Amino acid sequence: MYATEILEEKRLCNIGSYEERLGGFNWAIAEKEMGWGRGDPLNIGWHLTDRICRLGLARKPALLWEGSDGRERTYTFGDLRLLSNAVAAALSRLGLQPSERVCLFLDRVPELYIAFVGILKMGGIVQPLFSAFGEESLLTRLLDAGTAAVLTQKKHLGKLRRIRARLPALRTIVVVDAEGLALKDGEVALDLDSEPRLERFPLFPATAETPSILHYTSGTTGQPKGAQHVHHSLVSQYLTAKWVLDLRSDDVYWCNADPGWVTGTSYGIIGPWSNGVTQAVLDSGFGADRWYGFIERRRISVWYSAPTAIRLLMREGTQTAKRHDLSSLRHLASVGEPLNPEAVHWSREAFGLPFHDTYWQTETGCIVISNYPGMPVKPGSMGKPFPGIAAAVLDPTTLEPHREPGRVGVIGLRPGWPSMIRGYWNNPDGYAKKFANGWYLTGDRATVDADGYFWFVGRDDDVINTGGHLVGPFEVESALLEHPAVAESAAVAKPHPVNMEVVKAFIALKPGFTPGPDLEIEIMNFVRKRLSPIAMPQEIAFVASLPRTRSGKIVRRVLRAAEWGEPVGDLSTLMED
Ligand code: WT7
Repeated sequence: MYATEILEEKRLCNIGSYEERLGGFNWAIAEKEMGWGRGDPLNIGWHLTDRICRLGLARKPALLWEGSDGRERTYTFGDLRLLSNAVAAALSRLGLQPSERVCLFLDRVPELYIAFVGILKMGGIVQPLFSAFGEESLLTRLLDAGTAAVLTQKKHLGKLRRIRARLPALRTIVVVDAEGLALKDGEVALDLDSEPRLERFPLFPATAETPSILHYTSGTTGQPKGAQHVHHSLVSQYLTAKWVLDLRSDDVYWCNADPGWVTGTSYGIIGPWSNGVTQAVLDSGFGADRWYGFIERRRISVWYSAPTAIRLLMREGTQTAKRHDLSSLRHLASVGEPLNPEAVHWSREAFGLPFHDTYWQTETGCIVISNYPGMPVKPGSMGKPFPGIAAAVLDPTTLEPHREPGRVGVIGLRPGWPSMIRGYWNNPDGYAKKFANGWYLTGDRATVDADGYFWFVGRDDDVINTGGHLVGPFEVESALLEHPAVAESAAVAKPHPVNMEVVKAFIALKPGFTPGPDLEIEIMNFVRKRLSPIAMPQEIAFVASLPRTRSGKIVRRVLRAAEWGEPVGDLSTLMED
């Protein structure tokens, strides 16, 4: 009943009329607004700070920060400009060169946001990694990227110290809160509170195609891939933040994603700041009252969240929301997983506003399909392609767009928009495989209806989406195999009411080991410590053997189908390669 209801939205918004924007769209609209001409230097770091200050906004708050311990800090665009210059200069002094990879291994502390800008200013490639990553996850990504420096906090230093000997390219570890710490060789302290603020730094003259950010993302096969972005991405991120998230000069914006993932950089740093918009950051985990209290205190007006978070809020009921004054909220958007119609309707009850689903990927760099403010919402649909993005649902065999609406196929995008990745680090073959018949293949399945709305169906691969975070089965299986009791293993998605999917592992034990709850917990913790809490299997099934193809490849599909109560398909063909 709900799913077919269309929510009419009539209000003033930046995008104006979606249909009108489609006609004659050109990314030059954004370039002009940003004051950038083709061929000019383009450095995202400069655009987020110096340019905003030149527009007369140096005293405007850029970052309203709250820590898990209740500490608060405010940084203006002027502060950001001077402090990011200081970071850029410090990194240059340490001998870091343009195009070297500099990793941010930090909680969501102010230093993360400031250093992000500073690294770009000195021409480095930012490699943000989630601070809850364990040693193995960290090692894989730092090795692959040949990372030269890591910025971190005391509390995460131990992990880096333990893997350092295996990282020949890593020259420097920069500790942003090193007070009272005995630093070792190759470790330096950088305290932004005492570092002199720098009026001028010789900005690295990046151009549109200069590499900017390296985000690691998981696929079905092999270890995670480094998605390589360039400074030109700014054009897409600026305009989508303005038209989809509807950011305006008087907004206080909150994106609750961690910059370890692309949402936290594209829309947790670049989108708002390139628009000169104030953003608030809460460096602590989920808590309904904590989150609502934050919205209330900070007068948040635009909120970019995720379905898992919304489902957690739903569990608390609308009464928890009603205990707070949330009247500052003006626009809500969501990303990362399918947003179920119930969540859209619930958010209207709780906040008087529907969440607007947006769809994109690490590789696309910006929102590519979305529900726009002012456009009718069909709850459960991802909406329509952003103007300037040509998207279609392709017949999986011909890779031509389906002619009739309602047929399931793979989502293809015509390459060429500014924030599309330019490659996978060290992996040209993996990148080439993403393109066929003139399309970039997202790896997601969907349908499109007669009105042009896209509806998500599922992923086309074995990647597990847990709470909006992609987990590669291969990475989990590799970690499991390092446990002394594990002979073979398969990791698949298991349905979960809040996180949509969680990791479930199937394990065949080596002779001499007995299955049981103790071993199960031990193996779970083993993966949590090596990889991350997200990649940890929530359930382990001990089995005698795993289904394999004739040539010996484990068939995750069979295990997954059983978890989802889906037909397994023709086993005789499945067992062939
Ligand atoms: C994958 C990309 C882009 C920011 C978040 C994650 C899934 C993303 C939606 C949505 C259904 C979605 C897709 C996609 N996904 N948004 N609105 N509805 N599924 O970036 O880690 O690269 O993950 O997340 O499967 O391919 P990412």
